[in-house]
Amino acid sequence: MDMINTDDPPNDLRVLAMRPLIAGNWKMNTLRADASALAAGLVEQRAAIDPGCDILICPPFVSIRSVGEIVLGSPIKLGAQDCHVEVSGAHTGDVSAEMLVDAGCNFVIVGHSERRTNHGEGDKLVGEKAKAAFIQSLSAIICVGESLDERNEGKTLAVVEEQVSKSVPAEATAENTIVAYEPVWAIGTGLTPTIEQISEVHDNIRSLLNSRFKDGEEFRLLYGGSMNPGNAGEILAIKNVNGGLVGGASLKVEDFWSICTSV
Ligand code: PGA
Repeated sequence: MDMINTDDPPNDLRVLAMRPLIAGNWKMNTLRADASALAAGLVEQRAAIDPGCDILICPPFVSIRSVGEIVLGSPIKLGAQDCHVEVSGAHTGDVSAEMLVDAGCNFVIVGHSERRTNHGEGDKLVGEKAKAAFIQSLSAIICVGESLDERNEGKTLAVVEEQVSKSVPAEATAENTIVAYEPVWAIGTGLTPTIEQISEVHDNIRSLLNSRFKDGEEFRLLYGGSMNPGNAGEILAIKNVNGGLVGGASLKVEDFWSICTSV
């Protein structure tokens, strides 16, 4: 007969306790004043209501300090959009994970498709960036997702599987890692996959994580790509979707807040 370990709560109870995460990726948007106004608006909303999810904002590097001062003491968390693999050194234009912690961040996005495309970042480098984040006790949001051609060729699951296996390092845990599924063709386009398509990919990522990690069931899996106040409720209700990574709709307090309250 199997023995039940009473020290650990049953898996499904721990999963039920998982708090969704809504993360705003501001990309290369907002000057300092806009960034401050956006952060202040969210702090005000969050002070009035707990929408039942964790809220994270990822401003451009240069606004991290000023936004950090505004969210300080509120439950809104602060993150960055990228980090370098090294702690310091001759890397002109780059920012290390240690610097992000020093500036007040707890999270960093790595492997966003815009980094993969615009800066030629591959899975191996993305995995190294995630490890650099873990060393500094930052949580990494590791992004994966197929292009339109890959989807049309029926390669979605294979592409995502390869990205997850190569960019999620062996050191990942449900504490330090969040995986974001962002189909490249849905980012900033107004197009979104069907509920069935999102569900299929998220279930697949969940089983990949379960096969590699003993706490695979507890990793938060975010959907990203044209999430907006109109579609968030339906997407966030999908099993194995534990939050969203929001670009365009995170730049207006009311839109982002409306997504947060759709959880
Ligand atoms: P979008 O971007 O919401 O503007 O599509 C999402 C992202 O790239 O993280």
